[in-house]
Amino acid sequence: MTLQGREVILGVGGGIAAYKSCELLRRLQDHGYVITVVPTPASLNFVGAATWEALSGRPVTTQVWESVHTVPHIALAERADFFLIAPATADLIARLAMGRADDLLTNLVLASDAPKMIVPAMHPSMWLDPATVANVATLRSRGFTVMDPEVGRLTGDDIGPGRFPETQAIITNFDLVTGHKQDLLGKRVLITAGGTREAIDPVRFIGNRSSGKQGIALAKAARDRGAQVQLIAANCDVADLKGIDVIEVETTSQMQNALQSHFDQCNILIMSAAVADARPSHVAQEKIKKASLSSIELEANPDLLAEIAARKSTQILVGFAAETKDHLQEARRKLEAKGLDVIYVNDVSGGAIFGQDTTMGTILIRNEADIAVKEVSKDALSNTLLDQAIRQLG
Ligand code: CTP
Repeated sequence: MTLQGREVILGVGGGIAAYKSCELLRRLQDHGYVITVVPTPASLNFVGAATWEALSGRPVTTQVWESVHTVPHIALAERADFFLIAPATADLIARLAMGRADDLLTNLVLASDAPKMIVPAMHPSMWLDPATVANVATLRSRGFTVMDPEVGRLTGDDIGPGRFPETQAIITNFDLVTGHKQDLLGKRVLITAGGTREAIDPVRFIGNRSSGKQGIALAKAARDRGAQVQLIAANCDVADLKGIDVIEVETTSQMQNALQSHFDQCNILIMSAAVADARPSHVAQEKIKKASLSSIELEANPDLLAEIAARKSTQILVGFAAETKDHLQEARRKLEAKGLDVIYVNDVSGGAIFGQDTTMGTILIRNEADIAVKEVSKDALSNTLLDQAIRQLG
């Protein structure tokens, strides 16, 4: 499996802390990262290749001389989104600072421009040696993130800076490097996207201009933050949504059924779909001739959000509103009337927003001040709305 944006090379140097990287690897996997381990040959004295292969589920090599026909150092370098080198010994840091390429790991570091984080672990006198200090400064100046080791007891009786940090501290720092917050781990997020359509006859329908881009951006952002995501998608392009459970619907009634099946299990519902407010009272079985098209009798669709809000237990409900005038008053009214926790309103006068990659509007939250959103990408708005929903979850 390759997961876009989450492929990590875990480089392991030849220090005793290598055994702690077995636990690190496991916790990184829990955070949704997909790991390929590249140990230095020396590190195999501490943890063998079999351990890394079993934990990562991937083959492990240390040299460029294995599987030469696949050009492993270039293939792996191209696949890597991030490097985490933990533990990094004084020797490995020196080789990286010099730009050497004398094993697979150092080859990969040179061949890839992916962001790299280094977690040193060594005896305090080696960490404080001017050579190591200079090498670390060189790496930092080249954009490597180098964590400071912890101060504490080392393998012998010595105490000082050089200890391998706690797993959680490494992951917190690594999440900053990758930009992946994992604050939705273990949470279920249900999202509706697109616009429902109501048949008039076999060739015509009542629909709206929602492209589904915002809902899809939300689904991806929630997935990337660790959530289990179900996307109820109405008439939008759902290609390439790895790791997201997509339920495709066409009509309001189909969306209503999907919502009712999945709402109880979710922690957050984000209703970004534009639901058709009405449907033809009768769907003609044959195409209606244009001479008979002067009027279509409509009946109201249920308000899906208001309906599902009545079943709410601990779920956080996020709604959307598209308004052409009085948008703040209208949004505040909908927030209360539909029993929502958060609503995002955009001003769509003149057709703005629909189908575009950017949006601007206002986030309204119960009993809180409005948050104005200046023009941002729909991806960025997604993360801002998720931040608010998570805050409400507590
Ligand atoms: N919504 C819904 N069911 C409907 C209509 C809207 O669940 N039948 C949801 C939308 O998904 C959105 C929110 O309610 O999250 C507000 O939608 P909007 O169309 O702005 O509101 P309406 O209630 O339809 O109000 P109006 O058309 O009068 O502005």
